[in-house]
Amino acid sequence: MSTDKPKGILKKPSINFQTKTPKLKWDEDNLQLTEAQKNSTMKVTEPKTPYIHYNQDTDEIMTDLEKIPGIALNSSNYNQGSSNISPVGSVSPSSAHFPDSIKDDWDSENSEEDEETKLKRKKFAELRAKHYNMKEALRLGHKLVEEDVDDDEENGNEAALNDGDDDEDKIGNNNDYDNSSSSNNEIKRNRNRNMFCVTLLGKCKSNHFRHYVDQNQDHYVARLREAVAIPSVSADADHREDVFRMGNWLIELFKQLNISYEAADVGTQMLDGKTLKLPPILLGTYGNDPNKKTILVYGHYDVQPALIEDGWSSEPWKLTEDSIGRLVGRGSSDDKGPIIGWLNAIEAHQKAGIEFPVNLKICFEGMEESGSEGLDDLILREANRYFKDVDAVCISDNYWLGVTKPCLTYGLRGISYFKVTVSGPGRDLHSGVFGGTVYEPMTDLIILFSKLVTPDGKILIPGINDDVAELTNEEKETYKSIDFKLHELQSAIESQTNLFDNEIQTLQARWRYPSLSIHGIEGAFSAPGAKTVLPCKVSGKFSIRSVPNMDPDKITSCVEKFLKEEFAKLGSKNKLNVECLHGAKSWVSSPNHWNFVAAAEAVEKVFNCKPDMTREGGSIPVTLTFQDALNKNVLLLPMGRGDDGAHSTNEKLDRFNYIQGTKLLGTYLHEVAAAKST
Ligand code: BES
Ligand code: MN
Ligand code: MN
Repeated sequence: MSTDKPKGILKKPSINFQTKTPKLKWDEDNLQLTEAQKNSTMKVTEPKTPYIHYNQDTDEIMTDLEKIPGIALNSSNYNQGSSNISPVGSVSPSSAHFPDSIKDDWDSENSEEDEETKLKRKKFAELRAKHYNMKEALRLGHKLVEEDVDDDEENGNEAALNDGDDDEDKIGNNNDYDNSSSSNNEIKRNRNRNMFCVTLLGKCKSNHFRHYVDQNQDHYVARLREAVAIPSVSADADHREDVFRMGNWLIELFKQLNISYEAADVGTQMLDGKTLKLPPILLGTYGNDPNKKTILVYGHYDVQPALIEDGWSSEPWKLTEDSIGRLVGRGSSDDKGPIIGWLNAIEAHQKAGIEFPVNLKICFEGMEESGSEGLDDLILREANRYFKDVDAVCISDNYWLGVTKPCLTYGLRGISYFKVTVSGPGRDLHSGVFGGTVYEPMTDLIILFSKLVTPDGKILIPGINDDVAELTNEEKETYKSIDFKLHELQSAIESQTNLFDNEIQTLQARWRYPSLSIHGIEGAFSAPGAKTVLPCKVSGKFSIRSVPNMDPDKITSCVEKFLKEEFAKLGSKNKLNVECLHGAKSWVSSPNHWNFVAAAEAVEKVFNCKPDMTREGGSIPVTLTFQDALNKNVLLLPMGRGDDGAHSTNEKLDRFNYIQGTKLLGTYLHEVAAAKST
């Protein structure tokens, strides 16, 4: 990651802050919050705390978090709701430093509590949130900065806010800058006063939003927990009702947040021999101010299947927070966390009284994991109606490349998914009775599948590699600056079975060359034990990830031709059937577009580093549909990390990524509103 010092923003931090409201004081000797002296000047000072060190040479702040008494040091502590705040594993388990009323019920408001207790509880919540974020950010290697607050700003003096401040270099004429009214400014400044997190503290509207998000972490986690509890698996007919339930859950949230919506009925599908209703595609509209840009956000509310027997260490449908703040549950990262992130951002603006910076169009579907049935047609149908005023598109449905550095994504591979069926005998047979006397479908299929790809990943189907775009020198350059290490790949795959032992080859193999993966065989014996069956019909599944300039129709014809020829060579009396279940083209966009520039600004504000520009090996077919049907730029803005384990066991989203990601999505909208779109 970049450790460049952002010019004009990073200042010598001051841990002092003042505010007009609190009657609280940080007592350095006893390391506790106490009431301020009677008749004090209303100034409250948080002195140089022993756990925060400022390194003047590097302009960095270091923390010794383990020494903070009374602060819940890890997420499991403060996730325990109203239990107690005693920090597990901290050096000094001194929950006693906080008043009992806080200790017993520090998370929820208590109607009987007095103003002072309320303030203390609030203060504690703030400290808890800020130290959590600091700790996590430091763990990830991010640099923390804190705004140096000038005393004269306290007067609500417009000049002090605007004059010659370094922040202006950065913020310039950006209309995220708040110069609306002095009283508004004053509230904002007071709220920002004691903010200390990875957020860069410029004096801008989105700052207040980020602060609000920080203060409400647990509320957002509880919301994600509710969503994860609905097993909205689109691939399983038995769960179709749950996909509808998930759609309704979102509709309820739309209503709460004053988002107007249509739930588009896109008909039915055949699945496992049953006709099933397709879940609704939700089209939400939030705001229609002609003076604002209109941003379309897309996400999906269906998820992959999950069974605890697959090897989950906790119930997949019960969001479980582990000791380092990982929120484990199916769909947490793909894609419930991100879609809820957009809604959290809307709510935070409403609750914090901040004007929403753009008009938002929301498209959430419930069939993404199963081929997005009905979506392309709907987009084409609605291009000149619902999607008409869209200026740019943002999709949050992918992941950071690694585990420490945020990225923006401008490319995806396409996918062509095949089902190859070999059938022969009319029913399953006993291999002792019939083995050696019949052509076996499984044998034919295994021979065919052995001819698709080499163990080191070369696709053997003639014609498949012909159209792969040449690697240009310009493109070669882009790989050099990407922050990616092989050990990150190895830790994600939990092994050292990587094909290449250098980073650039690995990235190119993932992003810009095709790959072929074999997924499974339907109808084959797969249970434990030693059953001696001879299956009569088997369907092997494989897919090809495609890249520019490969064409799905051509891929299908190459695959069909090759498999038929190879099957003929076997001289088998069995039957072969080859189907392409779905095909989608790859997508590459321009990362220089204002949509990307705005997102990069947002990353800097939230994470204090510049994002890497990445492509992805995975596929989100609708990306290209949006780009082509609406003729607008599409940006992928990920929330989760590269090791989230989407589609795998123990899928997770780190609390840090969820909260910072919610801030990122909202901040992106502020930056996009301020962007020059010409
Ligand atoms: N969120 C993923 C897309 C993705 C995967 C992005 C990996 C980046 C990296 C999406 O939910 C997904 O799983 N897509 C499918 C597409 C398929 C069902 C058409 C995929 O990539 O397998
Ligand atoms: Mn997804
Ligand atoms: Mn997925």
